[in-house]
Amino acid sequence: MLVDFRPHTRLRGTKPVDLTTSLVPVVEALGEGAVDLAKVRVVSDWVQYRENFRDVVDLRPILHSAPAGGGAVPVPMGAREDDLEVAVDVRRSHDVALKELTATLLRSAPDRAVLEGWGRGSESLVWDFNALYWSALELWEKATGCGYEQALPGGESDARNRDAARELIDGLFAVWDRLSASNALPEELYVVELGVGNGSQAKVFLDEFRDRDREHGRGYYRRLHYLMCDYSQHVLDLARETVAEHIAHVSSFALDATRPRTSLGFLQYKVFLVYISNVYDNLPTDEVAHLGGRTYCVQTRAYLPAGEAAELAGSVAASTQELPALVHKLLRLGPALLPEAAAAHFPDVDSAVGFWRRAWAALRLEERYVPLPGLDTYPLTPVTGRVGQIPLSGELLRPLLESGADVRMHVNNGALASFVDSLMLLHPFGTLVCHDLFVTDIEGYRTHFRGPGKYDGSVVNWVNGPLLAHVGRRRGFDVHYDRFRHRTGGNIVTMTAQVRD
Ligand SMILES: C[S@@+](CC[C@H](N)C(=O)[O-])C[C@H]1O[C@@H](n2cnc3c(N)ncnc32)[C@H](O)[C@@H]1O
Repeated sequence: MLVDFRPHTRLRGTKPVDLTTSLVPVVEALGEGAVDLAKVRVVSDWVQYRENFRDVVDLRPILHSAPAGGGAVPVPMGAREDDLEVAVDVRRSHDVALKELTATLLRSAPDRAVLEGWGRGSESLVWDFNALYWSALELWEKATGCGYEQALPGGESDARNRDAARELIDGLFAVWDRLSASNALPEELYVVELGVGNGSQAKVFLDEFRDRDREHGRGYYRRLHYLMCDYSQHVLDLARETVAEHIAHVSSFALDATRPRTSLGFLQYKVFLVYISNVYDNLPTDEVAHLGGRTYCVQTRAYLPAGEAAELAGSVAASTQELPALVHKLLRLGPALLPEAAAAHFPDVDSAVGFWRRAWAALRLEERYVPLPGLDTYPLTPVTGRVGQIPLSGELLRPLLESGADVRMHVNNGALASFVDSLMLLHPFGTLVCHDLFVTDIEGYRTHFRGPGKYDGSVVNWVNGPLLAHVGRRRGFDVHYDRFRHRTGGNIVTMTAQVRD
């Protein structure tokens, strides 16, 4: 048996994790059960998100071959072939009857309302919930009485930070002054922001830009075009109101941040700044793992635990069997239209919003490990056939997966696609700046839980910084990570990407 205790820093300090109550009962239950102990991994995490998709103990089957139709998977010499991973959240495990809980799970599969089939994490319906949250944000915020920013670390976005905006603007002015001196500065100065939220980031940038330009005296504000992009029309409308005083310099685009060039192709090589904050951690992602010498894709499937499912179904005069169809209807139509489509269950919009919030709170993800037949068979970004779009091969993961001990990490497929597509927009002297939750060292995946968690109605996963940097460098860009300098104590890191000199 292999026991992987990831949050080792929690073994010290004022309230150290007590292994005898938080982990040992799991091992005891395994000892008394029927599983082959030589083929079990026990993995402990500290799941820092109070709202998340995990139970205190989860069982994750480790498949030896891809499910039907997946083809044969070669087994490397000397690889461990485990059957089962037992995952324990040690933040919560001392509060429950841990041994009994684990023994019950080992005896038989628990009763659940399963909402979808097994698939890659990036394909799960949790992303439909995420998109619904942003498109119907107004209804959600009305029901909770809280704005989305309150769920972000620190209670507000670091993108509002004026010192950070000034530093960025001064950098832009320096580049433009140099280009201007050699008559190489285009008349139109483009800045693209992806994922604008309520527009606070855009407003801070535009206010500071106007003020700095007044002092600088080169008339850059007059030439500025700020393009606000988001996939939620509601969010774009909010942001437009926020930047009303700058509206002559602002356009908005409803687009998917994972494919900015579908709408912004006309700006290829013309954009001086692509500006992103707290968006990459909100884009669909798979997870992959290298365990005992084999590489796996983590497959997931969303479910509601039986008790919560029965309660939820009862609250809308439905049976548990009807629940999956109602959830899918909610995700397809949104809460505003649900009362029309399912009047017997939802008398009004408020009841549909209540159903949405309760379903989201109860939502969990089952996981299993499925061996990958070869990294080259796993495209990291979609194969679209679009001109200039080369899918990224899973081979890019190899140096990170084979970097030492067992590791499980995010692929951040959505962020990768967005990043690569955005680089194509950049002027040769342009910069991509992204404030987000980056893991900057693969070791960080071996010691800390990095998601998924729930931020209010949305999904959060940390972003695989070494992977983005590796991909950027292969494309001729310098990619740097710096701790966000303008606030102490936060986890936000700033990524900067520029064409290599
Ligand atoms: C957490 S908010 C961040 C807002 C703002 N940048 C900030 O830092 O406060 C995430 C934003 O990304 C947008 N978003 C998420 N996924 C997106 C996608 N695939 N395409 C476009 N926008 C997306 C959401 O609608 C939302 O406005």
